[in-house]
Amino acid sequence: PLAKSLFGLEDLEERIRLSYGLKKVIVVPGDCEVSPFTKRELGRAGARALLGVMRADDTVAVTGGSTLSELAEQMTTPLSVSYRDALIVPARGGLGESVEFQANTIASTVAKRIGAHYRLLHVPDLLSEEAFLSLAHEPNISEIVQIIRRSRIIVHGIGDALEMTRRRRLDEETITKIKNAGAVAESFGHYFNEQGEVVHSMLTMGLRLEDIVRTEIVIGIAGGKRKAKAIHAVLRFGQEDILVIDEAAAAEIVKQI
Ligand code: BG6
Repeated sequence: PLAKSLFGLEDLEERIRLSYGLKKVIVVPGDCEVSPFTKRELGRAGARALLGVMRADDTVAVTGGSTLSELAEQMTTPLSVSYRDALIVPARGGLGESVEFQANTIASTVAKRIGAHYRLLHVPDLLSEEAFLSLAHEPNISEIVQIIRRSRIIVHGIGDALEMTRRRRLDEETITKIKNAGAVAESFGHYFNEQGEVVHSMLTMGLRLEDIVRTEIVIGIAGGKRKAKAIHAVLRFGQEDILVIDEAAAAEIVKQI
């Protein structure tokens, strides 16, 4: 707390909280784009924020990404609560990137660290319409998808729109479409413009927009100056309750307030 007031981080937290109507904002010192230490702190603050609101029998959906992977690593077994009856699930199917950044991996790591259960969704992140329709009828898949959609809490990363199109190896035509639609942010498979409007959605299993709107607690975690625009866009979308960011992103965001 002393360090926070010294750096003026509390002031940043409060300004962002009021400006976007959030329940809670946590700003960690530094810039995670340049410092792995800051990224770890971001993960730790995210883990703490999650444990702060999580009930013993909750279902929690988590997305993928390097930031969420850091959160998973920083989860510690709480002494006072048993999460034996809690369930951690991936928000969506697997991403076409490294295993440690996939939502399935993050869900299982978080669960193991806090002694909760987990269920995985073994489908690709990006599906053709044909595959989507046939998978939706698979009893095993539709069962886990129903569970995912009933999550009370979702914890998600926020990405720059174009960076995410490349990471997901989307085809040039789709990338151009997303770019021309003015997308600046990506989160949980949806692309947002600066006003926070959804301009493109991927056809995926898992959380849909209406599920996110219905979710009781939405926790967003992201950092780095370059993500400020993306974070702003997702905040404009208006579904966030708790935001965990770093100082570099926060300083940039308040310039736009
Ligand atoms: C993805 C999430 O896996 O990670 C996205 O599904 C998010 O919601 C992205 O945009 C962010 O990744 P990172 O590595 O920048 O934390």
